[in-house]
Amino acid sequence: PRVAILISGRGSNMMSLIEAASRPGFPAEIALVLSNRPDAHGLARAQAAGIAARSLDHKGFADRASFDAALDALLVEEQIDLVCLAGFMRLLTAPFVETWAGRMINIHPALLPSFKGLHTHERALEEGVKIHGCTVHFVTPEMDVGPIIMQAAVPVLEGDTPDSLGARVLAQEHVIYPAALRLVCEGRARLEGGRVVIDEFE
Ligand code: GRF
Repeated sequence: PRVAILISGRGSNMMSLIEAASRPGFPAEIALVLSNRPDAHGLARAQAAGIAARSLDHKGFADRASFDAALDALLVEEQIDLVCLAGFMRLLTAPFVETWAGRMINIHPALLPSFKGLHTHERALEEGVKIHGCTVHFVTPEMDVGPIIMQAAVPVLEGDTPDSLGARVLAQEHVIYPAALRLVCEGRARLEGGRVVIDEFE
């Protein structure tokens, strides 16, 4: 499948997907990186890796619906089969999400359903949880709620700061996002009737 990665910022998860997809036998082609912010650092990193990188500045659109319509048109034009959100900091409208149902995945820096939304590492430390982590899930209209494909857990250590904890989580994001993308591309993780079906390893 032809995969588009949507970003808004530094693009470290994007790079982990690009690197994984460049290895022999990976069942996906990263065909496009798209940012809603023209100044996203990840765009330059994608270009340097030889990936087509474009920006679609949300500021040029009157509302979410018109931005999402333009985004959909671009993805269709580029014959994209699957969308990976990787630090894409913009809410998508329900019609767009429905159009891409089962074909759009996201990575979230917490063990969902805990700590949806922003500032997950600060909140995990405030709550005093001992286990934290990250989640790859199919995207559904409600934010950070979609059916879970893969998770990784990390310990919360004495003296952790949001930065130190976040770095530990990010290292795991870079492991599970390519692994989850592989499963989805091979059809071994699918959205069926609103639930994820995973074929276990043969
Ligand atoms: C990651 O922590 C990801 O989980 C969250 O946004 C951050 C993006 O980082 N959705 P990067 O741009 O992939 O480096």
